Amino acid sequence: MKLTIIGTGYVGLVTGTCFAEIGHEVICVDNDASKVKLLQSGGIPIYEPGLQELVQKNVAAGRLSFTSSTSEAVEKSDVIFIAVPTPPQPDGSVDMSFIERVARDIAGAMTSYKIVVDKSTVPVKTGDKVAETIKRYCKAKVEFDVVSNPEFLREGFAVEDLMHPDRIVIGVRSPRPVSAMQAVYTPFNAPIIVTDINSAELIKHAANSFLALKISYINAISVLCEATGANVQEVAAGMGMDERIGRRFLNAGIGFGGSCFPKDLSAFIKIAQQIGYDFHLLKEVQRINADQMDRFTKKITDTLWVLKDKKIGVLGLAFKQNTDDVRSSPAIELCQRLLKEGATLRVHDPKAMEKAKSLLPNVTFVEDMNDVAEDCDALVVATEWDDFRKLDLEKSRKAMTHPIMFDGRNLFDPAEMERLGWMYKSVGR
Ligand code: UDX
Repeated sequence: MKLTIIGTGYVGLVTGTCFAEIGHEVICVDNDASKVKLLQSGGIPIYEPGLQELVQKNVAAGRLSFTSSTSEAVEKSDVIFIAVPTPPQPDGSVDMSFIERVARDIAGAMTSYKIVVDKSTVPVKTGDKVAETIKRYCKAKVEFDVVSNPEFLREGFAVEDLMHPDRIVIGVRSPRPVSAMQAVYTPFNAPIIVTDINSAELIKHAANSFLALKISYINAISVLCEATGANVQEVAAGMGMDERIGRRFLNAGIGFGGSCFPKDLSAFIKIAQQIGYDFHLLKEVQRINADQMDRFTKKITDTLWVLKDKKIGVLGLAFKQNTDDVRSSPAIELCQRLLKEGATLRVHDPKAMEKAKSLLPNVTFVEDMNDVAEDCDALVVATEWDDFRKLDLEKSRKAMTHPIMFDGRNLFDPAEMERLGWMYKSVGR
């Protein structure tokens, strides 16, 4: 099929590339000309495992191309996916101006029947507004359908999640676009849910909020574990073996971040408020998340007493493993708090140091994780990179003034760390 993706952020670029990989002809559109140039030359603006090779392979095969011309792409395609940003606004709602702008551009370029698909994370009822806008701005007055098709990819695992989805959600306002949408997704060989457009839009916010709720739940449990001498990982394992609960997303730590969970929670609370429902539960999810960071910071100040002129090593800057993304990163938040207390920082991240530089101007960036602990009074683990499990603990221990580790992602084993001569504090253990 001939597909267009408008917007080449995480969702747009990965979706477009994987659509090409399964055989579709894909045009990716972006209004940032320098980004289009980079993509046309085989480069990609994000670190995402496996993506660069896939982009280059499909560009070479002639199935994937990049342009900044929406009208050119719309004319050549049967299905147009909208994957532009919906950034958060101070009141918690999301900025819909990019979506609205693209809907008008698509309308202006349509001269025959098209299917327009919302792939960005949008509030319920957005599909109706997109349809209204296209109807108003389409001079050619041709037929079209608007579909909701939310994306569930995780950063750091995006290609894997796209190529092996748990399910595909297709929300429609009429049966007409269903078979075309099924044809787009059949090669992925995953369950396809066809539902009404409002339910599809809600599935996205509901799913993300529930995952965030699960994390806040285990973080709340971690507080009880610390107070009773229990081990949160044991509790998570015991809970998680119940298929109704599941072990995934029960990793206690310093809290969730990233460009999705915090924004989607605020947006969902706002949507509920506009509909007259006070979503207490999700407000509590937010409160527990913020409290987790406070508790962890307090653990450090309680142990080190005064942070002024203390040197602290920090492992991890990205909001999670396998990405260079530092948006709403708990690790960055923690660094900023330690700096505010007067500490000096030596920091390392396998991929995110470049993007963190503008957020952490006055810290020392260390290339090798095994050199971070040099002369430090404490070491902090802030992001759950698997790499960190291979840290040379003995070298780090010897290089520090005192071997103290605060592990905000429970990467190490408390008994083993004690055996190796560390003072070791983690979360819920
Ligand atoms: C999330 C959803 O998982 C994905 O389905 C959706 O499409 C976009 O939002 P992402 O933000 O990329 O994906 O990352 P995710 O792996 O969900 O992690 C989010 C945050 O939660 C990270 O800060 C991570 O460190 C934290 N987390 C995750 C925990 O603290 N504990 C866990 O058990 C899992």
